[in-house]
Amino acid sequence: MKTAIIAVTTVTLLCSLAFIAINPAHRATKILAHSYAGVSKVGRKISSSPTGNYAPATVTCPPNTPLIRSINTGLSANETSYLSNRQPVVQSAWRTYLTQAAIPGFNIDNFLSNTTSTGKVGIAFSGGGFRAMLNGASVFNALDSRNQDAVNLGTGGVVQLATYMTGLSGGSFLVGSLAINNFPRVTDLTKTWDLSESVLAPSRANIFENAGYYGRIIRDVNDKEEAGFDTSITDLWARAIGQKLVASSNPTPNSAITYSDIRNTSSFVQGQMPFPIIIALGRSQGQLIIPANSTVYEFNPFEFGSWSPRIRAFTPIQYLGTNLTNGRPTLGNNRCVEGFDNFGFSVGTSSSIFNQGLLQLNQSSSSILGSIIERILTRIGQKDNDIASYPNTFYGYEPGVNPVANDVLLDLVDGGEDNENIPFVPILQKVRGVNTIIAVDSSADTLYNWPNGSSLVQTYQASLDPLSENTIPFPPVPSVETFINLKLNTRMTFFGCPNASNPNSYPNGTYPYPLVIYLPNYPYTMETNSSTFNFRYDDNAVNGFFENGFTQLQNISNIKVCLACGTIQRSSAAKGIPLPSACQACFDEFCWNGERDDRTPPIYNPRVQNPRGQTSGAEHKITISIAVGVLISVCAYFFVMVQ
Ligand SMILES: *[C@@H]1O[C@H](CO)[C@@H](O)[C@H](O)[C@H]1NC(C)=O
Ligand SMILES: *[C@@H]1O[C@H](CO)[C@@H](O)[C@H](O)[C@H]1NC(C)=O
Ligand SMILES: *[C@@H]1O[C@H](CO)[C@@H](O)[C@H](O)[C@H]1NC(C)=O
Ligand SMILES: *[C@@H]1O[C@H](CO)[C@@H](O)[C@H](O)[C@H]1NC(C)=O
Ligand SMILES: *[C@@H]1O[C@H](CO)[C@@H](O)[C@H](O)[C@H]1NC(C)=O
Ligand SMILES: *[C@@H]1O[C@H](CO)[C@@H](O)[C@H](O)[C@H]1NC(C)=O
Ligand SMILES: *[C@@H]1O[C@H](CO)[C@@H](O)[C@H](O)[C@H]1NC(C)=O
Ligand SMILES: *[C@@H]1O[C@H](CO)[C@@H](O)[C@H](O)[C@H]1NC(C)=O
Ligand SMILES: *[C@@H]1O[C@H](CO)[C@@H](O)[C@H](O)[C@H]1NC(C)=O
Ligand SMILES: *[C@@H]1O[C@H](CO)[C@@H](O)[C@H](O)[C@H]1NC(C)=O
Ligand SMILES: *[C@@H]1O[C@H](CO)[C@@H](O)[C@H](O)[C@H]1NC(C)=O
Repeated sequence: MKTAIIAVTTVTLLCSLAFIAINPAHRATKILAHSYAGVSKVGRKISSSPTGNYAPATVTCPPNTPLIRSINTGLSANETSYLSNRQPVVQSAWRTYLTQAAIPGFNIDNFLSNTTSTGKVGIAFSGGGFRAMLNGASVFNALDSRNQDAVNLGTGGVVQLATYMTGLSGGSFLVGSLAINNFPRVTDLTKTWDLSESVLAPSRANIFENAGYYGRIIRDVNDKEEAGFDTSITDLWARAIGQKLVASSNPTPNSAITYSDIRNTSSFVQGQMPFPIIIALGRSQGQLIIPANSTVYEFNPFEFGSWSPRIRAFTPIQYLGTNLTNGRPTLGNNRCVEGFDNFGFSVGTSSSIFNQGLLQLNQSSSSILGSIIERILTRIGQKDNDIASYPNTFYGYEPGVNPVANDVLLDLVDGGEDNENIPFVPILQKVRGVNTIIAVDSSADTLYNWPNGSSLVQTYQASLDPLSENTIPFPPVPSVETFINLKLNTRMTFFGCPNASNPNSYPNGTYPYPLVIYLPNYPYTMETNSSTFNFRYDDNAVNGFFENGFTQLQNISNIKVCLACGTIQRSSAAKGIPLPSACQACFDEFCWNGERDDRTPPIYNPRVQNPRGQTSGAEHKITISIAVGVLISVCAYFFVMVQ
């Protein structure tokens, strides 16, 4: 009964939020916002958002206009200087890691002598909601030199030597919160996340507190709306997820924290963290399903933009939100917008799951909600309010090539909607020089929410598509059927290995694509396949994820040597250093060797190998279908009543 009251209250509040997002100017909006927000105004400090709150504002433009940089100039000067700052850190992390791995017969000094040809490692974390955040975190923890268990296992230190980390959707929760919270151990981040409280109803015991929570969210979104910016459902999600991911000890008001604020953390200043990148996808007006050739946009601490051959340009992320025409600010008086790259909004854009939920709901809607849903979706669709709305940085830029040159607004959606659920694209760019990618796959591809290699298949196919113009070189991977039949999705697998039967195919290390070390989500000690839309995990479930991720590596008897061999293969080849036989044994065991079995597999339902932890927090599951379903029906009622 109590649960029901809370649910109804929550849904009503959520509904108000949706209403407000859709009808920001309606007088009901303001009345609602004020009644829920209460009168207390937090003392606001000036920070990276010049208003000290969620609203962006105008500031004097930086001296260097135009504000668009073509990728013809390669990496940004700032990224280059970040990497050179990080280089000594990476170099010493390599030495510590390789010393610990102690590959028999391998000369570490020789390997590290020429730093310019030591390649770069990137770690990519897939989408999949909080499941993906937790599974990604468990792998991160098993590769972190600050975790003594990982050091003892011989795997700790890989996150210290990585040059890049990328995330999309649930993976962006992890990458974003690692970066904005000064690169802590993930086991310390779990206190910030507090997943025992749902992001949808953080104070489940107290409906008045929840009312205040939504009131503040409404007020924040209103701030942005009143400052003259388009808002959408993503802004509501942005404020909720922004509060979830940033430690409350951060002195800047949560609503004012920006993605560029990552630059101010001491770990970033000292080059201690892999360069953090999250991605979202562009969606053209009126188009609901994302094609495989959709444009990938990246948010990094310095810039926002796209490597896509159709865009090929970046803007300083700090001034994202400025109306530009062919790179020139149009506001006049040398005014630019600042504060638009809100941290929660950036991560919320990468994970705009409401859009997915609405799409699924429309497709699966039964007679009960039927036409009401249709009506709401049509309304939202017409206003394009189911996406994140950005002033189009690339307006008037390279018309004829650039597909969005005529769009005043740039519509962005969840980074996983093109089914390339692992954020490879930013670290496949040749200019970034990444030669080894550790890919953590927490996708829910199969009936039971396990990965089947589909993300790799999609990226491989995109790499072959002429539209990609050979900008995203990716190693060959087999079909999803082969992944399942050959159990390539059950444990660490390498793709793009040296070909044992054809060892001279890439002389002098001239591999056209990186080596991919694939780490799929698999039930070693717990069923880590909770729904993407499970918003609550109790401590047992969180600890169960950590144990499962660690066991995945621990279960491999020669993991210490074999993981190290995977990380050095490309650089050794480039330096002409032959790898010892211990590494060849690892490649024999972990490389996909070209074998295929494309027969239709039976239903994939792996059993927990070695049950130890608790079962996942399934009893707390709130599925998005139910949440959105109720939300929409109450909303429908709300719309009918108010208008
Ligand atoms: C971030 O750092 C810049 C320069 O390093 C400084 O001007 C700015 O005040 C800092 N912002 C915050 C919120 O600390
Ligand atoms: C980035 O680099 C440019 C010079 O290329 C410089 O003007 C600008 O201040 C830098 N921005 C940051 C945030 O370091
Ligand atoms: C180091 O490696 C780079 C790139 O492979 C190469 O151009 C350079 O000659 C090497 N330097 C030495 C001292 O071997
Ligand atoms: C995607 O591919 C389709 C068909 O090949 C094409 O019509 C469309 O313009 C492409 N989209 C973009 C953004 O290039
Ligand atoms: C940017 O342009 C849009 C569309 O012309 C306009 O509605 C908006 O007010 C402009 N924003 C600013 C900050 O000038
Ligand atoms: C919802 O689905 C129906 C049928 O599946 C389709 O005709 C309609 O265009 C969809 N509406 C929206 C807003 O996507
Ligand atoms: C594999 O995953 C894709 C994408 O999630 C899905 O469409 C497909 O049905 C799955 N196939 C198998 C055999 O599991
Ligand atoms: C590989 O490197 C060796 C020595 O640096 C050189 O003699 C040889 O021509 C190179 N091979 C190719 C195919 O580049
Ligand atoms: C890995 O798990 C399998 C299945 O439970 C087990 O048979 C094997 O002994 C484990 N290996 C190690 C090294 O723990
Ligand atoms: C290795 O090379 C052989 C001979 O060229 C080729 O048939 C096979 O497909 C290659 N294997 C892989 C995994 O590329
Ligand atoms: C998790 O996977 C197992 C089989 O592997 C399945 O029995 C169970 O229903 C799945 N749970 C969810 C939430 O999909």
